[in-house]
Amino acid sequence: MYRIAVIPGDGTGPEVVAEGLKVLKAASEKYHFKYQLEHYDLGGERYLRTGETLPDSVLDELRRMDAIYLGAIGHPEVKPGILEKGILLRIRFELDQYINLRPVKLYPGVETPLKDKGPEDIDFVVVRENTEGAYTGAGGVFKKGTPDEIAIQEAIHTRKGVERCIRFAFDLSRKRNKEKKVTLCGKTNVLTYAFDLWERTFKEVGKEYEDIETDYAHVDAICMWMVKNPEWFDVIVTDNMFGDIITDLGAIIQGGLGIAAGGNINPNGVSMFEPIGGSAPKYTGKGVVSPLAAISALQMMLDHLGEREAARGVEEAIMKVVSRDVKSLSAGKMGYSTSEVGDLVVRYIHEGYTRGLG
Ligand code: IPM
Ligand code: MN
Repeated sequence: MYRIAVIPGDGTGPEVVAEGLKVLKAASEKYHFKYQLEHYDLGGERYLRTGETLPDSVLDELRRMDAIYLGAIGHPEVKPGILEKGILLRIRFELDQYINLRPVKLYPGVETPLKDKGPEDIDFVVVRENTEGAYTGAGGVFKKGTPDEIAIQEAIHTRKGVERCIRFAFDLSRKRNKEKKVTLCGKTNVLTYAFDLWERTFKEVGKEYEDIETDYAHVDAICMWMVKNPEWFDVIVTDNMFGDIITDLGAIIQGGLGIAAGGNINPNGVSMFEPIGGSAPKYTGKGVVSPLAAISALQMMLDHLGEREAARGVEEAIMKVVSRDVKSLSAGKMGYSTSEVGDLVVRYIHEGYTRGLG
């Protein structure tokens, strides 16, 4: 019996999470596993009503779950930073979800903006460090609002944090068993302290993985290569800030925020799965956004929980929907409503495995 915390969150989060939960139910029937849901109303509405972001008591309950399923955090009436830091980043940090795992995979039938690139070219994973770097909130302001104002925002990189992230990337490349290549993405020519630590650690750890090829790219250059030669990549490992930036680029080359998902992984603890896109206030309540990113996040959660067959079944169902049914993954252009797309995924799960797909 899996205990799963559900945080639908803000904006379109609840509508896409509802579809993910439909799919979870279908997968549990088809693949015979049991689960129990705990819903949490964390997000902008609760904050505006009560002033609370993430109460300690809720955090303690989250620590005892098998996984967390998250919609989106971000509300137009709340100043940027409050909900992000108070809920999303707090969960990532407190639960030590030190990996942010973001697959970039183009499914057949999905349109990529990259001319001449297809599903065989776009299939890699970004391993983003998720608890350090520029995200720790280190620094401060002095003489705020005066002409002498000083703002310092530091990035913290620890040997331990860097090493565990790099090890995860090498292990993942081995497990994928594809190109067997890990690319470090950094900025060794300017951030000479931080990425010197990353580079040395990368080289040392790399020696333990003789079967895995290593490569390096500066973050600015990788933005070019991801567009020009996405087929070069198998696993990209990088720090928190660069990982945040390049995974939005990754999301768009795999078809956009309508399909891109990620996992906040603590390999020894509680992990959290979420669509990469935000709360999309302008589409909220209209039933027009794609639920496939949230459903892909659910698929990653099933895989992480060890329900490999179910995860595969969900992925196949997603592949059928994108190749046979939806016209586009953009909001309002699918040719179906949010819940109709969820229903299609459910139908394909019940129909089961099709030879030759994937
Ligand atoms: C993401 C988001 C978050 C991040 C924001 C909402 C704090 O952009 O998950 O990529 O920067 O990590
Ligand atoms: Mn981001």
